[in-house]
Amino acid sequence: MTDAPAALWNALETLEFPTLGALFAVPGRLDRYCTTLDLPGGPIRFDWSKTHLFPAAEAILARLAEAQGLAEKRRQLIEGEAINNTEGRAAEHTAQRGVGAPASVVEAEALHERMQGLVEAIHEGLFGEVRSLIHIGIGGSALGPALAIDALTRDGARVAVHVVSNIDGCALEAAFRACDPATTMIAVASKTFTTTETMTNAASALDWLREGGVDDPYGRVVALTASPEKAVEWGVDDTRVLPFSESVGGRYSLWSSIGFPIALAIGFEGFAEFLAGAAAIDHHFIDAPIDSNVVVRAAFADLLYTQAFKCQTRAVFAYDERLALFPDYLQQLEMESNGKRVTADGQPLTRPSAPVTWGGVGTDAQHAVFQLLHQGTHLIPVDFLAIKIPGHDLDPVHHQILLSNCFAQGAALMAGKASDDGARAYPGNRPSATFLAEDLNPATLGALIAFHEHRTFVSAALLGINPFDQFGVELGKAIAKQIDAGDGEGFDPSTEALLAAAGLRG
Ligand code: F6P
Repeated sequence: MTDAPAALWNALETLEFPTLGALFAVPGRLDRYCTTLDLPGGPIRFDWSKTHLFPAAEAILARLAEAQGLAEKRRQLIEGEAINNTEGRAAEHTAQRGVGAPASVVEAEALHERMQGLVEAIHEGLFGEVRSLIHIGIGGSALGPALAIDALTRDGARVAVHVVSNIDGCALEAAFRACDPATTMIAVASKTFTTTETMTNAASALDWLREGGVDDPYGRVVALTASPEKAVEWGVDDTRVLPFSESVGGRYSLWSSIGFPIALAIGFEGFAEFLAGAAAIDHHFIDAPIDSNVVVRAAFADLLYTQAFKCQTRAVFAYDERLALFPDYLQQLEMESNGKRVTADGQPLTRPSAPVTWGGVGTDAQHAVFQLLHQGTHLIPVDFLAIKIPGHDLDPVHHQILLSNCFAQGAALMAGKASDDGARAYPGNRPSATFLAEDLNPATLGALIAFHEHRTFVSAALLGINPFDQFGVELGKAIAKQIDAGDGEGFDPSTEALLAAAGLRG
């Protein structure tokens, strides 16, 4: 008989946690909590030894995984069953990288081939000289491409991509300033092809092309969408519509045709490596036993801090400029997936759901926010991401200092420093995990992203929530639409006064 989850959560909450120092006194800690995976992009070392994970806590979390049916939920995810129960559909992002229901994998391969055809046609000059792409999308239709392009094209791109998401025209104007209409194509990326920001920006981009002397602006547009008929209706020729399956969620969609700008920037071969890196993590997640599964272990650490230590945030610092957008990407992945207040069957969730994910880049963040990490009253678990091979050709001293700072922070957070002067004392016993990859290439980036996708899924599974819907974003959108339509009289006095002050009320 499996235990009731409530009793297990209670056992976790009431467990006595030794200090990190005491945990390190147990022989074999590093071996147990540090795992290196050999992956297509090179090895990645995952080190949780400086967290409060220890066998008694892990045993409870493993029983929770069993009680909440983690293995069965993972099977449903991978086999394309309707794991997104509130919307009655599957979540088939893994099929995009070849791991999933056979029919979905075949469909994804065919759609990738179509995308490859268009990417190669552009590279071969069939659309004339194409120097830039303005990629217009928002949320999951922008954050993944922005991260991948920033991470992988520091040495130059085959086509320069400018990702524009915000409705604020300043964003689109900046892209226009950097591009020439004669050599620019536009990608309109939207799963639904109805998102206000994206459709408004797309219309303005067409105007810009027209005003820039392009005779057939629609002829320069590529649509990336799960609603191909809407894209055609909007004016994009069917040959330049790259569809993807409705069963791929927005924040999991960069593996689908939403990844078109990535393939255009780095070449389709690079994009295929990106998928292969992610697939290697899929296989690890499916096949590795629970006690050596890096995905499960990451989620266990996350749950330990939110549930037992009541941490409300978690911080991620990339000690690599190329991964500067990683925390932004994770914010949507984790907070839109797991920021929920009911369980998958609609019952109130009686415990904390996702922590607030935040972060930045090292070493910049050390000079801005690390004070609070070391001496503030909040306990904030930290993830450090670092890459062994530098992304530049300058004096190796840069990278040496970068990495030594990264590891010094983890050491300092854990060890602390006693002092009779309270202001100068560091309490220590503050947790961090460190992920060190050999090299940053498409496959490594794919692996890092897939690792975080599955980590988020495991946390959701243990909490019993559905990570694949996002109804919380709808209310504000609906109210904004009412305002724009001139309806919706009678908001609260503050909102009415703001609308009047900004000139939005007649
Ligand atoms: O507002 C939230 C959201 O629905 C995200 O989940 C999604 O990634 C984003 O909007 C963009 O949606 P679409 O790709 O349909 O334009």
